[in-house]
Amino acid sequence: MSERRPLIAGNWKMNGMRAEARRLAVEIGTLRMSQPDAEFDMLVCPPFTALEAVGQVLENTSVYLGGQNCHASEKGAHTGDISPAMLADVDCTHVILGHSERRTDHQETNEQVKAQAQAAHAQSLIAIICVGETLEERESGKALEVVCEQIKASVPGDASYGNTVIAYEPVWAIGTGKVATPADVQEMHSDIRKTLSEMLGSEEAEGIRILYGGSMKPENAKELLALDDVDGGLIGGASLKAEDFWTIAQSCPSIS
Ligand code: PGA
Repeated sequence: MSERRPLIAGNWKMNGMRAEARRLAVEIGTLRMSQPDAEFDMLVCPPFTALEAVGQVLENTSVYLGGQNCHASEKGAHTGDISPAMLADVDCTHVILGHSERRTDHQETNEQVKAQAQAAHAQSLIAIICVGETLEERESGKALEVVCEQIKASVPGDASYGNTVIAYEPVWAIGTGKVATPADVQEMHSDIRKTLSEMLGSEEAEGIRILYGGSMKPENAKELLALDDVDGGLIGGASLKAEDFWTIAQSCPSIS
């Protein structure tokens, strides 16, 4: 839908010492400010240790800052975790939740992701809720069903287009160079929107941005971002090179 403003989000994962992260942020901020009126939003999600440094660099740019995960509790005895309030404290506006690497490496469940999203919303953070099927699920024809189940179980009832973004990331496409076909991506995004509409009503569902993630690169971005229900990208590898990240952002169709 044409009024949804595209979001180009960089997931830096576990990459970037502070000096390196600062350099990358300077480059991205400078590129963004070379076209301040371009009609897309940009977000970077560095590792926790670089958030403050990157936030300082991006202060006078319009590039948003996000965390890669957060706990569902406000504070307390949760060694190794970070709360939504801590992210807000270093000027984050967004947080990625339920990324497939979290679901696999840390056994995060849909129920936990839902609780984390609610906690993030309570701190006025925008939750980017990730969903996606495995290769086995795709090959057995269950992709649509699996992903829509994840949506139903991970998206909280208070989700709105103001506080929630969905990222569809087929697990088999992340970091592999393999990309889902445009037809499969559009079919999935449209089904996700239908599911959101059943849960939250059509107005919210029409406004919620649904990003595609999984080996998005300058070479394939234009085709993916042109799809009706694709409202941006969640980019891993290619977000670590400012030029590539910027080229992807510039591949967004203009809002009509
Ligand atoms: P990728 O990662 O672009 O390196 O495939 C995407 C992601 O995991 O968010």
